Amino acid sequence: MPLLLALLCGLTFLVGAAPDLAGEEEWNKCNGPKKPLILDHDGNYDDILVLLALLKSQHVDLQAVLITPADCELDPAVEVTGRVLAMLNRTVPVVPGQFPERYNPFPKVWRELASEMQQVADIYLQESEIHRPSEAAHEWLESYLGNASEKTDFLLTGPATNLNWALRQRPHLASKVGRVFWMAGAVEVDGNVRDSDEPGKVQWSDGSAEWNAYWDPLATRELLELNLDLWLVPLDATNAVPVHKDFIQRLNPRHQVPRVAQQIWAQSKFQKSNAIYYMWDTLTAGLYLKPSLATWRSMHLEGHTEGRRQGRIARAHRGAARGTVRVASETDVPAFTEFLLSIFNEAKPGEL
Ligand SMILES: *[C@@H]1O[C@H](CO)[C@@H](O)[C@H](O)[C@H]1NC(C)=O
Ligand SMILES: *[C@@H]1O[C@H](CO)[C@@H](O)[C@H](O)[C@H]1NC(C)=O
Repeated sequence: MPLLLALLCGLTFLVGAAPDLAGEEEWNKCNGPKKPLILDHDGNYDDILVLLALLKSQHVDLQAVLITPADCELDPAVEVTGRVLAMLNRTVPVVPGQFPERYNPFPKVWRELASEMQQVADIYLQESEIHRPSEAAHEWLESYLGNASEKTDFLLTGPATNLNWALRQRPHLASKVGRVFWMAGAVEVDGNVRDSDEPGKVQWSDGSAEWNAYWDPLATRELLELNLDLWLVPLDATNAVPVHKDFIQRLNPRHQVPRVAQQIWAQSKFQKSNAIYYMWDTLTAGLYLKPSLATWRSMHLEGHTEGRRQGRIARAHRGAARGTVRVASETDVPAFTEFLLSIFNEAKPGEL
């Protein structure tokens, strides 16, 4: 880094409490063109779209894809992830999480979407060899962070169990964790865990929780207490970005990546449950790449683990163990839409 730039960067950090908001250009310059990033996803349509977007972004050096078997069936999620990586000639480790069965399962009809997506992948994407380490995701993560010489960012589009577990085992590794962007929670709006999701099955929730946070309420609470550089993208923000047909139509089918994205999004519109499909995870990835697309509020938040409030992320009571978190509130939806389209539609020289 040239000396002048180094000095300017130092100054920006001294003056600006949040250098990566208005000063995100400076943030990018200070940290070099490519940032090491780990994606931890849970295998639904939206998660795979995030993977595609990250692989197309010039600013991301993807280190690994961890998969949490939450909103998916594990095997198809691993398979589709591997095929997407292979399509872009990337040999990135794909590391499934292994967990005891103590979690609040996602509705079956949602988890089955991973198999549906594999059917899409069977048609459009070639089979490939997957670089799959033998350790469980949290063990792999401990080893990776132990080896790392610089900070790695995290993008969590499913539950936070792997990262939380690794940092609980080895707290000193928190110094190797950069920014953590997490799609989770419903702070000042209703949650999306409802009794009626699965006929005949009553969720142990009062409706205030969001699914990623509800799957593992303890990990949610503990992650909020870790004092990480946490950027939360809750339903408060994602409610503004339902998937629209016009958006899907604007993806360029003449190029491979936007064509696959179009095929996946088109499927997501027709999911079996009658819920609207939102860009929950793609918004989170977009805000990771360009935080200024939303306004952020600093809040003290806590995660509830008891009774029907479990999994709820809410403003912390005085005296509660709590962390300060940046929370996305207002998104500039037209700017986000154009940004996302530009990532997908921009063809690199020589690209198919
Ligand atoms: C991947 O590699 C194949 C074979 O070497 C090549 O034809 C293709 O263009 C590459 N694709 C990308 C996206 O780089
Ligand atoms: C960390 O380094 C050790 C020793 O070189 C190596 O065996 C291990 O695979 C590395 N871990 C990861 C996740 O790369």
